[in-house]
Amino acid sequence: MKRVIIFGAGKFGKNRYKCLKDKYDVEVVAYADNDSEKWGGRCNDICIIAPEEIQQFEYDEILIAVIDFEVSEEIRAELRKLNILDEKIVDLATSVKYMDIYMEPRFGWIQDFGKWVSEQKIKGSVAECGVYRGDSAKFINKFFPDRKLYLFDTFEGFSEDDVKFEKCLGNSEFNDSKFALEPVFRNTSVGYVLKKMPFPENICIKKGYFPESACEINDRFCFVNLDMDLYAPMLNGLQFFWERLETNGCILLHDYFHPNLPGVKKAVEAFEQKCTDKIFKTVIGDRVSIALFKG
Ligand SMILES: C[S@@+](CC[C@H](N)C(=O)[O-])C[C@H]1O[C@@H](n2cnc3c(N)ncnc32)[C@H](O)[C@@H]1O
Repeated sequence: MKRVIIFGAGKFGKNRYKCLKDKYDVEVVAYADNDSEKWGGRCNDICIIAPEEIQQFEYDEILIAVIDFEVSEEIRAELRKLNILDEKIVDLATSVKYMDIYMEPRFGWIQDFGKWVSEQKIKGSVAECGVYRGDSAKFINKFFPDRKLYLFDTFEGFSEDDVKFEKCLGNSEFNDSKFALEPVFRNTSVGYVLKKMPFPENICIKKGYFPESACEINDRFCFVNLDMDLYAPMLNGLQFFWERLETNGCILLHDYFHPNLPGVKKAVEAFEQKCTDKIFKTVIGDRVSIALFKG
């Protein structure tokens, strides 16, 4: 069993404990934190120590558990000064190794695709439509370190018109779900998302209603993640990016198999009916997404 110290006894570090213990079979020997008021206290019934005390423990890895990537890098620098080897330090927020188990197939796949794009020398930028709090964008940013990443979102949730349109499609799976009945995806902001990015210099934020927010884009793409949940924006996303997609590039659509979001599959069907190109479609093993390739 691996022994780890979680650096960060805040909400994130506290919440990741159960998953680490149950799914990854690690033993958390201590929490470390820079907040002196927490020292001597407990988190998940485990002692909270000062960073200087770390070396008194036997451990295999230190897992930095903070949301903000820049803060994580500051902690990494602090740990280096304490003579802790880099290979023992893991940023939990962007680590595939310790991610929630249900997320691993999708992000493992995107990681592999990022490597493949680079090996095959496929040109182009990358994009995500439907960013919300940046929890998939930060991985795309990490796995395509040399590519410009466009991030499209209202950063204020669904557009009322898109929801009205979706309701008119008459699918009770959607109409009776939280997506139709409650305002969703509003608790975010551009600043909050940017803080999570490992390579913020690669990011181009496109805040506003998609596809209007894309009207000035004059670029080509090797990978696009479409995650806007509803028929109209997903169909618009396919139409906009397909003609800008490089050969062997991929558009990944999240929620194709989501029981409450049938508009996504309908958008793909509508797109396929009109598109004259050969589209290669495949599942990626995460039970929810579909990948479309341009041959
Ligand atoms: C499911 S969330 C995205 C989740 C994110 N990809 C993740 O994995 O954490 C869907 C997002 O799509 C955005 N969205 C939906 N329709 C949109 C539109 N027409 N224009 C811009 N953003 C839209 C919403 O604001 C919301 O943040």
